[in-house]
Amino acid sequence: MNQPYVPHIAAPDVVRNLRALEWVAEIAELTKPDRIVWCDGSQAEFDRLTEEMVQSGTLRRLNPEKRPNSFLAWSDPTDVARMEDRTFICTQNKEDAGPTNNWMDPAEMRSTLAQVFDGCMRGRTMYVVPFSMGPLGSHIAQIGIEITDSPYVVVSMHMMTRVSPKVWDLLGTEGRFVPCIHTVGAPLAAGQKDVAWPCNKEHKYIVHFPETREIWSFGSGYGGNALLGKKCLALRIASFMGKDEGWFAEHMLILGVTSPEGEKTYVTAAFPSACGKTNFAMLVPPPAFKGWKVTTIGEDIAWIKPGKDGRLYAINPEAGLFGVAPGTSMKTNPNCMMAVRENAIFTNVALTDDGDVWWEGMTDEKPAHLTDWQGNSWTPDSGRLSSHPNSRFTCSARQVPSIDPDWENPQGVPISAFVFGGRRSNTVPLAVQAFSWTDGVYMAATMGSETTAAATGKVGVVRRDPFAMIPFCGYNMADYFGHWLKLGWSVKHRPHVFQVNWFRTDANGKFVWPGFGENMRVLKWIVDRTRGQASGIETPLGWVPDYDDLDWTGLEKFSRDQFKAVTSIKHDEWEAELQSHDELFERLRDRLPRQLQLRREMLHLDLGA
Ligand code: GTP
Ligand code: SPV
Ligand code: MN
Repeated sequence: MNQPYVPHIAAPDVVRNLRALEWVAEIAELTKPDRIVWCDGSQAEFDRLTEEMVQSGTLRRLNPEKRPNSFLAWSDPTDVARMEDRTFICTQNKEDAGPTNNWMDPAEMRSTLAQVFDGCMRGRTMYVVPFSMGPLGSHIAQIGIEITDSPYVVVSMHMMTRVSPKVWDLLGTEGRFVPCIHTVGAPLAAGQKDVAWPCNKEHKYIVHFPETREIWSFGSGYGGNALLGKKCLALRIASFMGKDEGWFAEHMLILGVTSPEGEKTYVTAAFPSACGKTNFAMLVPPPAFKGWKVTTIGEDIAWIKPGKDGRLYAINPEAGLFGVAPGTSMKTNPNCMMAVRENAIFTNVALTDDGDVWWEGMTDEKPAHLTDWQGNSWTPDSGRLSSHPNSRFTCSARQVPSIDPDWENPQGVPISAFVFGGRRSNTVPLAVQAFSWTDGVYMAATMGSETTAAATGKVGVVRRDPFAMIPFCGYNMADYFGHWLKLGWSVKHRPHVFQVNWFRTDANGKFVWPGFGENMRVLKWIVDRTRGQASGIETPLGWVPDYDDLDWTGLEKFSRDQFKAVTSIKHDEWEAELQSHDELFERLRDRLPRQLQLRREMLHLDLGA
């Protein structure tokens, strides 16, 4: 190495980026790890780290006959989900973060971080993980470097992103990257024994400096709090970049639909956390839909850019899935079940007596005995869940049988429809097509959803979740609406916009719509609408399918009455709904695009007519 001013970090020769070398040295000086390991993303590295974690008790190796090369982790019970109230957007001006984000003054935050990060890696290894979001070297990709003291994070990043020494080559001496600093925030004193899942129970910070494109995460080792390429980089920082550079970074799945005639249509869909993106992205059409095929490009995040032909093109910046386990079964999502047959990491699910995993909903019959996610003996009559509701699996996207041949195409795939869907037990009908782009932006902006276990906090209360981005937009939400309006109207061939809701319930609280594979019926209507090949009826909300507009082959038992139950538009419900839209708009008033206010007025008048 010819970098005499940073000799102690012992960087490999391939690392020539001056800023990276300086930054790693600076962070090492601040966090004071015992040693530094430069990661290369290799299988040997994965095997070494997983073995070390098996030895230390962080991971359990699953029965290789049941689940080859797979592992189970149980986290600290206080570290099980994203923490939205500990997530900060630190822009120079408070207004630029907007009223829906936690803002803190960057200077103040930096001084807090300098304190909490001081010595936070003592007794631990600091890993330097070079990764690419998007195919390596693609013009659309972004490079990040994550510094972490969690080997669990390193092996998860292997699956979720593209970790490779080639990243250093791409960076050269001057290339730019997003610095991502993560610590579990649990330094070890000399001789102190480590715990299986170190984290900091008192302090957690997930901090973004969008203007300088930096991420600092302290105290949690779980999911989006710790795998910094995902929500922090690919959504919060990337949304900010997209606003400046003319593209979108979205909480969306991307799928392809091929008709029996061989016509292919690409659709993206934004649903809030744990509301069915993974399931929809891997949908298996019912048997009656012979010749129809759904392929998966992405299941959580989409980066969308205008192409030269005036269409919008989407790529999946991720390389793997970190999906909700409970409810996933061979019936609800066979593609996913096959994807996690081997080379998978499971977190906070239950362990079977023969060394495999189980979670609620995996099989109709519950196993007679399990060890639950907290390590306790469990039987079906224990009266508690065996797996945490936000327990998850991690695997490479390559293992998904429905993966689309173009999933790594650096040009992306051309999008014909944007779908938005929340979890609503009432009010929102099964499917609606917006009348126009502005109307579609209104629909997405006013989306609401009942909260899920994907974040800490109360579950099951309706909150407004514009574009499923409320926890993930790195800037002022009203500016974000403006960006959507402007960029959409600026392209020649705008996708059509739809809203869906799989979650209406009956008087007993049961879902009326069968969902999962049966969602193909709605997806087909959507695809046909984009091609001008399906009819619908005009309502104040937009175009909705009539019973006869959907293909019911194989689901004749779903009655016209049930259809009415999932599609009715009730005046009193919508009055309350519009009231709630108003409250959101009131919060965003300073920068709210006027079109949205006008659209709200029109809806109010039309619904009252
Ligand atoms: P994140 O990874 O948190 O962003 O979430 P996601 O949107 O990928 O969530 P996922 O697909 O893992 O959703 C999981 C939950 O949605 C489970 O509880 C499923 O049972 C439920 N779900 C998915 N599709 C449907 C459906 O069509 N109908 C019903 N009723 N539930 C569904
Ligand atoms: C979500 O909560 O939307 C997720 C999981 O996709 S996490 O990566 O933990 O944010
Ligand atoms: Mn998500």
